[in-house]
Amino acid sequence: MNAPDTFDAWMRDALARTERSLEAWVPGDAPAALGEAMRYGVLDGGKRLRPMLVLAACEAVQGHPGAALRAAAAVELIHAYSLVHDDMPCMDNDVLRRGKPTVHVRYGEAGAMLAGDAMQALAFEVLTPPESEMPLVLQARLCGLLARSAGSAGMAGGQAIDLASIGQPLDEAQLRDMHRRKTGALLQASVLMGAATGPTHAEAWRALGDFGAAIGLAFQVVDDILDATQPSDKLGKTAGKDAHQGKPTYVTVLGLEAARAEAQSLRRAAHQALERSGLPACARLGMLADLVVDRDC
Ligand code: IPE
Ligand code: IPE
Ligand code: MG
Ligand code: MG
Ligand code: MG
Repeated sequence: MNAPDTFDAWMRDALARTERSLEAWVPGDAPAALGEAMRYGVLDGGKRLRPMLVLAACEAVQGHPGAALRAAAAVELIHAYSLVHDDMPCMDNDVLRRGKPTVHVRYGEAGAMLAGDAMQALAFEVLTPPESEMPLVLQARLCGLLARSAGSAGMAGGQAIDLASIGQPLDEAQLRDMHRRKTGALLQASVLMGAATGPTHAEAWRALGDFGAAIGLAFQVVDDILDATQPSDKLGKTAGKDAHQGKPTYVTVLGLEAARAEAQSLRRAAHQALERSGLPACARLGMLADLVVDRDC
């Protein structure tokens, strides 16, 4: 089998394991349609890039597969919750997500808010199984990495900057800082959570952190480019929203060509970081970095 086939087969298997876990762990029986709204927001859609990063990083360090699967589901739950809230009328006011009406369109604003709240809590429930299944020290480490990337210094803080920046002329450094927080932090945490499931020396840990930071920023740069260049049916979400809402993005601040060049430069930085890690089994992380930059949706 040649390399692309191997990667495709790995992706299929990793995606299937992720879907099965989410299907099993997101409860349908929460009261008053809460479970239904949670499952609607999490299952049946999404590229699942963050879980793929967790699983590939676990393999790169020959980590604990069961712990990595829990980390993969947890990070996707935080991501899906961030999308549910991001789409609400008080934030981006979007009606289409993952090719379907958004959660608040389907379940009302209070329903979407509570589904997001419960998805966030569920992420940490998933990371804290009985001790027989995962050592307590690893549970605490994974919870800490995820909490810090999702909270005020990471995703939530970045989202606050995003809303405060509407109509504001951000410079490139401010834009980079916002993107690193709102999107980059959770992607970097995905890589580090996968790596935390196995042994790593300090140099490899630092290099994987640099890798995660590069692809994390690249991911939002590409999201900005796609918002300006792809149609809604391709994206599964409303295209052209950023310009419409006066959001500063890599496209509005740098221009399309410079934004594309920045994504390529971050791809190179990601590959260089992987080389520095000295890890023998990190080819899949490299392919995921290429996917982040080359994707068209
Ligand atoms: C969209 O993320 C929101 C951003 C952080 C830019 P994705 O493009 O990963 O969305 P899904 O999970 O595939 O729907
Ligand atoms: C979202 O950024 C980042 C999140 C933390 C959810 P965007 O607002 O650009 O994401 P999309 O384009 O709606 O998916
Ligand atoms: Mg937003
Ligand atoms: Mg949005
Ligand atoms: Mg966007």
